[in-house]
Amino acid sequence: MPKIPIIKILLALLVVFSCVCSSINGAVSYDDKAIIINGRRRILMSGSIHYPRSTPQMWPDLIKKAKDGGLDVIQTYVFWNGHEPSPGKYNFEGRYDLVKFIKTVQEAGLYVNLRIGPYVCAEWNFGGFPVWLKYVPGMSFRTDNGPFKSAMQRFTEKIVSMMKSEELFEPQGGPIILSQIENEYGPVEWDIGAPGKAYTKWAAQMADGLKTGVPWIMCKQEDAPDPMIDTCNGFYCEKFTPNKPYKPKMFTELWTGWFTEFGGAIPTRPVEDIAYSVLRFIQNNGSFVNYYMYHGGTNFGRTAGGLFITTSYDYDAPIDEYGLLNEPKWGHLRDLHTAIKLVEPVLVSSYPTVTYPGKNQEIHVFLPKNGDCAAFLSNYDPQFSAKMTFGNSQYDLPPWSISILQDCKKEVFNTAKVNAPSTQRKMTSVGSFSWQSYNEEAPSSDSSDTLSMEGLYEQLNVTRDESDYLWYLTEVYISPNEQFLKNGQFPVLTVMSAGHALHVFINNQLSGTVWGSLKNPKLTFNGNVKLRAGANKISMLSVSVGLANVGTHFETYNVGILGPISLTGLNEGTRDLTKQQWSYKVGLKGESLSLHTLDGSSSVEWLQGSLVAQKQPLTWYKTTFNAPDGNEPLALDMNGMGKGQMWVNGEAIGRHWAGNKARGNCGKCSYTGIYNENKCNRYCGDPSQRWYHVPRSWLRPTGNFLVVFEELGGNPDWITLVKRS
Ligand code: GAL
Repeated sequence: MPKIPIIKILLALLVVFSCVCSSINGAVSYDDKAIIINGRRRILMSGSIHYPRSTPQMWPDLIKKAKDGGLDVIQTYVFWNGHEPSPGKYNFEGRYDLVKFIKTVQEAGLYVNLRIGPYVCAEWNFGGFPVWLKYVPGMSFRTDNGPFKSAMQRFTEKIVSMMKSEELFEPQGGPIILSQIENEYGPVEWDIGAPGKAYTKWAAQMADGLKTGVPWIMCKQEDAPDPMIDTCNGFYCEKFTPNKPYKPKMFTELWTGWFTEFGGAIPTRPVEDIAYSVLRFIQNNGSFVNYYMYHGGTNFGRTAGGLFITTSYDYDAPIDEYGLLNEPKWGHLRDLHTAIKLVEPVLVSSYPTVTYPGKNQEIHVFLPKNGDCAAFLSNYDPQFSAKMTFGNSQYDLPPWSISILQDCKKEVFNTAKVNAPSTQRKMTSVGSFSWQSYNEEAPSSDSSDTLSMEGLYEQLNVTRDESDYLWYLTEVYISPNEQFLKNGQFPVLTVMSAGHALHVFINNQLSGTVWGSLKNPKLTFNGNVKLRAGANKISMLSVSVGLANVGTHFETYNVGILGPISLTGLNEGTRDLTKQQWSYKVGLKGESLSLHTLDGSSSVEWLQGSLVAQKQPLTWYKTTFNAPDGNEPLALDMNGMGKGQMWVNGEAIGRHWAGNKARGNCGKCSYTGIYNENKCNRYCGDPSQRWYHVPRSWLRPTGNFLVVFEELGGNPDWITLVKRS
């Protein structure tokens, strides 16, 4: 019989007392063991579903699947830049109808963990901050800065008061049991020192002052001031301990897979290892686990951020991008949750006693005073299975696995014994399209909507992210005496850009395209250019692929061509073009004409039939189609296309870039051994993203209007509509 230290008994008594208090005033509280709701300590299983990454029509089904999967809580961030696209102009409609989302969760009988941030990271454009925020005078993000703190406070208060007026916090009868302020601020604070510390203190006090009646968490924030709970994010968190002995041990992001970047392979994480991570945490006194993501969904439009993040945010989550079960992941975790619930009362009322029966083996026993018992048998060996004797029985443990013993006898779950069925993803073509095309030309530098300046300007400063695209336009004069005109050895144009992709046109002909990557967004164009005697037009289309979402003062990161730019191989040697006159045009002509809408598209002549552009860069394509029967999710198969964006019925599907193939190592993947995001990849050599989700609810039965913009010269005849099953 393990002995329970006296201090723990005292603590438990204290807890019983505080539980009684908290149930009287109806608030959610916590102690060292767990979150306490209505006087009950809970082991809570939670999953991230980000509301703008699906459609309101999908929400009830996603949430039902989460509930059927054994979750208690849905966790979401709040996406400031979606809610306040320009200062003071709010949007809480459609995919951004936060209140409706929370009420949908409530109707399903689940709780909500609301991560207000308002910094969210999340592979979301600019980490969730509106781009206009950067241009507020005196602004400096996520530090002890007046303008930042007042903007952050204003938005946080707005969200909290909206939740209060809708009675959504638990003490009001609502589903929100936890809120989060900031997100993984610890590493930034470490980086910047004193102003970071002051900001942490301020953020905690500001949030606490909002009196929500539910606890606040600060993830990855070792010095989270009381009463904030510091929590852990990662692939594993069993070694984590909160910063005070009276705070519960919480795992706010257990990564169920990883995001995909254009140019990268598709990461997966074996479910055996996810279940193993959950139980290592729970057997070490953890009481809250959130799967990040439970449904990853889609980065519609231009919401993807961090650089080069794909439109798909599938994440290899238990529910796939399309809302279908990702098996056996979903089913195995459901079985895990059923088993955890069987022993929940034992876990919340006692502390584990640990013994070490052999190398790489542990036994954790929970033995509350009422005589109940639960045990966890662990075999950490990545190679060998183990036979373990416990009580009067022997148990078989596969490598890298943990078993739960109900009543300290009956094995009700083992993390590596998967009973849930596997399913195979299938994409079936249900139709192709007949296209019309419109050619987008490089603008002329003397047209009225270009700006002219000396030298090079940073892209975000000029576009304010109204568009991914910025034209850099200039002219070079070539004397008829140039040697290269005679010997045909064309000069080399060198262009240095901070990123992310660049198309170079010389006298309206595409001369080349270069792009960077998530790790190294910077790029250099270096190529021979066919110049002629007299005036030559250099038109460069610089393209951003999402704004940075993470890093100390990521608001200062640059995009676009900053130079130097030079021409070598002239009679004079090298000519520096960096400081000469440059003209700028924000966005594409097709964007300013709103070619993605039916109305806008009628303002230009489209080529039809045999005249439709084939494999031409900078081309708009449009078509109409009928929705296929049935209710299987739909996608566009963009294999054969290069890079660009897509819209259906005016809704932005997202960026496509099948032309960016997956680098990396797609070798064998074992569930055993420590996992990291590079361990288990798929689809090396294929497009990083080939299929693009088209939500059913965006379609009507007939006459759907589809527009594709293509930058590189892909072949639209290859595009097909597919059903996923
Ligand atoms: C975490 C962050 C999340 C997400 C995740 C990676 O550090 O808190 O928002 O970015 O990394 O998917």
